[in-house]
Amino acid sequence: MLSPQQRAAQLRHPHGGAALAVAESMNRSNGALNQAAIALLAVGAHQTVLEIGPGNAAFAGDLLRAPGSRYLGIEVSEAMVDAAQERLALAGLQARARVERGDVHALALEDACVDAALAVNTLYFRDDLGAPLAELARVLRPGGRLCLAFVDVAFMRTLPFAAHDVHLHGLAEVELALHSAGLRVCGWRDHREHATGNDGGVVDKHFHLLLAHR
Ligand SMILES: C[S@@+](CC[C@H](N)C(=O)[O-])C[C@H]1O[C@@H](n2cnc3c(N)ncnc32)[C@H](O)[C@@H]1O
Repeated sequence: MLSPQQRAAQLRHPHGGAALAVAESMNRSNGALNQAAIALLAVGAHQTVLEIGPGNAAFAGDLLRAPGSRYLGIEVSEAMVDAAQERLALAGLQARARVERGDVHALALEDACVDAALAVNTLYFRDDLGAPLAELARVLRPGGRLCLAFVDVAFMRTLPFAAHDVHLHGLAEVELALHSAGLRVCGWRDHREHATGNDGGVVDKHFHLLLAHR
């Protein structure tokens, strides 16, 4: 059992002996949110999609439903890159999908090379949203789309790990940061789920999804 501080550190950068279990737990608890983001992003045939912070890339196959589409994941965690590459190989997706080590603050990608991008639950690890969103805007082709999915601030404050160097970004702040990066918001979804908490009680999970285009 991880302490709230250990959990925050693992969510920021899964590492060590706990990394794989953390990835599986993220996949379970974030599965419905990821599916909502994938539906909103709607990757088209022959498009290239970039995922930031995919963990072990459990949802890459769902992003690749359109024929001829391609997937690139960028992850800071070496443990997640290894787990993701193994998972993609087992799923027979390695010809269309790969995950590389990298950081959204400095993407080793050419300008305007992706059609669609998404980041689910990855906005909380730095205070500044400007630099990562500017990078994402840079690599999106004109007309390309970015989907961000993130926890509502009031709900995040109820989570014990949120007190440990986790940055809370409200909906209005994220919208403004997207606009400052040159992206226009064109879609929004409220995502709510009921889940069972660690104490057995019902937890009302609340997230926002924003779709923006360049
Ligand atoms: C809370 S997990 C979310 C994983 C997955 N997107 C999901 O919805 O379950 C955050 C992930 O983002 C990665 N990450 C954190 N900061 C990052 C950065 N600056 N660039 C790329 N990946 C990052 C972490 O290693 C971790 O795997």
